[in-house]
Amino acid sequence: MCGIVGYIGPREAYPIIIEGLKRLEYRGYDSAGIALFDGTNLGVCKTKGKVADLENKFNSHTSKSGHIGIGHTRWATHGVPNDINSHPHYSNSGNLVIIHNGIIENYDSLKKELISRGYTFQSDTDTEVLVNLIEDVKKKENVKLGQAVQIALNQVIGAYAIAVFDKTQPKEIVIARLGSPLAIGVGKNEFFIASDASPFIEYTQNAIYLEDEEMAIIRLHKDIKVRKIKDDSLVAPYVQKLQMNLDQIEKGGFEHFMLKEIYEQPKAITDTYRGRLNREEAIIKMSSVEDNMKKFLAADRIIIVACGTSWHAGLVAEYIFEDLARIPVEVEYASEFRYRNPIITEKDVVIAISQSGETADTLAAIKLAKSKGAFVFGVCNVVGSSIARETHTGAYTHAGPEIGVASTKAFTTQITVLSLIALRLARAKGTISSSDFRHHLLEFEMIPKKVEKALESDAHIKMIADIYKDSKNCLYLGRGYNFPVALEGALKLKEISYIHAEGYPAAEMKHGPIALIDENMPVVVIATKKGHYEKVVSNIQEIKSRKGKIIGIVTEGDVDVRELADHVIEVPETLESLSPLLTTIPLQLLSYHIAVLLGKNVDQPRNLAKSVTVE
Ligand code: F6R
Repeated sequence: MCGIVGYIGPREAYPIIIEGLKRLEYRGYDSAGIALFDGTNLGVCKTKGKVADLENKFNSHTSKSGHIGIGHTRWATHGVPNDINSHPHYSNSGNLVIIHNGIIENYDSLKKELISRGYTFQSDTDTEVLVNLIEDVKKKENVKLGQAVQIALNQVIGAYAIAVFDKTQPKEIVIARLGSPLAIGVGKNEFFIASDASPFIEYTQNAIYLEDEEMAIIRLHKDIKVRKIKDDSLVAPYVQKLQMNLDQIEKGGFEHFMLKEIYEQPKAITDTYRGRLNREEAIIKMSSVEDNMKKFLAADRIIIVACGTSWHAGLVAEYIFEDLARIPVEVEYASEFRYRNPIITEKDVVIAISQSGETADTLAAIKLAKSKGAFVFGVCNVVGSSIARETHTGAYTHAGPEIGVASTKAFTTQITVLSLIALRLARAKGTISSSDFRHHLLEFEMIPKKVEKALESDAHIKMIADIYKDSKNCLYLGRGYNFPVALEGALKLKEISYIHAEGYPAAEMKHGPIALIDENMPVVVIATKKGHYEKVVSNIQEIKSRKGKIIGIVTEGDVDVRELADHVIEVPETLESLSPLLTTIPLQLLSYHIAVLLGKNVDQPRNLAKSVTVE
């Protein structure tokens, strides 16, 4: 996820773009840049860091003049955040300049092809490949920019929102989208471009939202031409009147970032496995795993280190690694691990999980493991973060920035990456049959749609939240793969609603927590069909006979739990190993709605920080 802004018209472009980038900073904040054409020179100023850093750089030595310009705030996917990898990127001739939000999956092969034809590259980005591909097509086919973009994009596999212009034709900007949002603000003889409407809301309320696989040629003094990328056919642009205010636009129309991020999960999970899972060929390919396959296969055990929600994702991974790949796993709180003189050998593989990539305890655990000779693999969301750099190698989750302090999409995308690794290792070790492997891949591809289905219970969950919002305590129970989900559900509730909540393995209830159960105690029980169902039903009966209030998370069509529980929330059926990706959704929504109903600050709960850089 990155933020895109552009302007063409009679005003100075710089102030519009820089203010627009500040509003889009929630979409990415590791680097920023702007390209402006002043009628003679095409100037690009870019830097690692925040938009404020870019502003300082401009203030010190760059011309701010120009009536056409594009700007970008980056959330790195290919290439660490640094000045060179920041956008915009030039083509080799220096005429074309581009900004891009998304991932070009086949950039490597395209790059090799371009290098063989003499192109050179300054950065590690997929975006620089794209701008040179467009230039190459433009020259070879002798076509205008719009057509060159259309032809080039037909060679691209991946997701994108792009804006590109040619300094030799400075009255036109070409934009295109597939999988990443893009809006055009239509003014009087001026046009604005942005990832959402927030950068241009005070200039115009008329907006065109491009659909996937559409591109637009925006030319001064001309009507906007919207075309289908695939076949170049014309589409009638639909201009709509914006109704939302600035705050609503930044949150994509959602009331809070947390809710937006909960709803982003189908896309985030897809982005995580895209390019790694290929169902038709029945393969999972992750270069960092392939390159270190020997180490993984020779490992005596895997030690997972993490904190908070990431630790819960590690616990889910323990089940899947042991179950499918038959590799022993230990999951450690990084803060305990680093201080307890752990036994670590060169035959250990350590997996460090962290959304922010900056958590101090996890970083210290990594350093300790490395000092003992272990191979350390990172699972991070933030590209180029300290943990991503400190680990030997790793895999990014590609969830996009998570702004809400309570982790949601980070959790499900971490589980996605870890499941892909476990499945890949299981295949390499032969601990999973080829038909089971195929079945897993098939189910995996259905997860985003099933998450969407699970999200449909939102209104029902809000109603349940209203009933239990005044509870003082809450218990979460689950077994097997869904025990860590119970822990995560309890953490979500306590951190944003400040209601005391505990997660337990369902069978442990009778060893203590059962004493707490009375008619005032809501108990959330994850009771999906494929996870020790009968045993969980017995646990529910035990709660029922003590008058506890039961909220069951069940598989669609469930009958038994429905008879016993006070409320049920259905999730679609899937494999047990993938069920945490679905059962966690209603728990996130339940916490969210309770916290909102209680009037809490959902996105910034008291005493908590998004990244914990102190121990
Ligand atoms: C809970 C939450 C925290 C983080 C923890 C680790 O919603 O966000 O528990 O999971 O602070 O953070 P990362 O994953 O950034 O290392």
